[in-house]
Amino acid sequence: MRPTMPRAEKAPTTATAPTGKHARREGYEDGALLTVDDVHVRFHTRNGVVHAVEGVSLSLSEGEVLAVVGESGSGKTVFTRRVMGLIAGSRDTEVSGTVTFDGSTLTELDAKGLSAVWGKEIALVLQDPMTSLNPVKRIGAQITETLILHQKLSKQDANARAVELLRSVGLSEPERRVRQYPHELSGGMRQRVTIAIALSCSPRLLLADEPTTALDVTVQAQILDLLGDLQSRLGMAMLLVTHDLRVVRSRSDRIAVMYAGRIVETAPTKDLFDAPRMPYTEALMNAVPPITGPNHVRLAVIPGRPPDLLAPPTGCRFSPRCPYAQDRCLTEEPPLRDAAALPGGAAVDHSYRCWYPVGTPENAQARRVNAERGETAAGTPVTGEMVPA
Ligand SMILES: Nc1ncnc2c1ncn2[C@@H]1O[C@H](COP(=O)(O)OP(=O)(O)O)[C@@H](O)[C@H]1O
Ligand code: SF4
Ligand SMILES: [Mg+2]
Repeated sequence: MRPTMPRAEKAPTTATAPTGKHARREGYEDGALLTVDDVHVRFHTRNGVVHAVEGVSLSLSEGEVLAVVGESGSGKTVFTRRVMGLIAGSRDTEVSGTVTFDGSTLTELDAKGLSAVWGKEIALVLQDPMTSLNPVKRIGAQITETLILHQKLSKQDANARAVELLRSVGLSEPERRVRQYPHELSGGMRQRVTIAIALSCSPRLLLADEPTTALDVTVQAQILDLLGDLQSRLGMAMLLVTHDLRVVRSRSDRIAVMYAGRIVETAPTKDLFDAPRMPYTEALMNAVPPITGPNHVRLAVIPGRPPDLLAPPTGCRFSPRCPYAQDRCLTEEPPLRDAAALPGGAAVDHSYRCWYPVGTPENAQARRVNAERGETAAGTPVTGEMVPA
């Protein structure tokens, strides 16, 4: 169920009207807790300009879980760091767009203003706990430091709260853990510690960037369940970033699929799984092994590689890998369009970028054309299995 959405005091000031017949901002919503509007990040490197994030807009309501999903290199981390304010404009880094949190425009705050928000209102959990933990400081000191700084607790109260926090993230023997150093704990335990630190000041928004990628499969599920449990218990909003669509199916309210720096599809989780419209989303789903299958079932790999963001393909960025690509896809980039206008498309808040969306007669025709000629308009070989029944 979608959580209720209190309205922020101030509407974002830079929202622009959607353009084109069906064009709309991806997931853009007035009155959200977090609003990201038309964010771009470009790195000027010796080899050229890396278009890491291109015009991403989305919004997140209080208490909502939004998953951002895409293959490695699609711009998820750069996007998350920009939302957090950890990437700023410089001689080599070009940034634009706005990020608004509860009525404050974060992209206009200086370092002092941002540090008042970090850890207090918005917290971040990263892929590798060792990058967030100080290896030469005891666990307890790393937690109490934040509590004393942000919550102005006395040392004694902070110590008691540190033990309580470690217990709340499921760490056994928390009284002993506070005296240990990070290297004395396993990867899963360390990630529990970083989650405890992130939660220490009861943030309203948690950004979790691939929080389990560095962990064993069984520990991954435990950590994701812990995050989900804490998120619903504390009523936090969460932006859960992952390359694995499987893990967010039961753990998110909405999904935004990212490809080559852009959002290519966004929908409520159930609608996305029931009726994906963007062929890349469909391909990601086909790359998911059957839950009931044996462990050795191989993922159906998406052919080709994610594009080089130094020189992304013209037209649709997925066209070199898409089994349905037609001539138009090679020259014209599809805008984000409303899926409600499609046959069988009743979902609200469902948008996609594609000229030949899955489940439409246009898509069936594109499949037929490519199957007959044995390749896509981009020259990628296809098989006869593509022809719809
Ligand atoms: N500081 C940087 N300078 C140049 N390119 C960068 C920098 N940081 C990230 N990139 C590039 O931006 C793209 C997106 O990276 P990233 O956000 O880490 O992807 P993801 O998290 O989806 O795997 C990649 O091509 C990466 O090489
Ligand atoms: S059909 Fe065309 S527009 Fe749609 S994803 Fe494939 S290449 Fe892109
Ligand atoms: Mg990443």
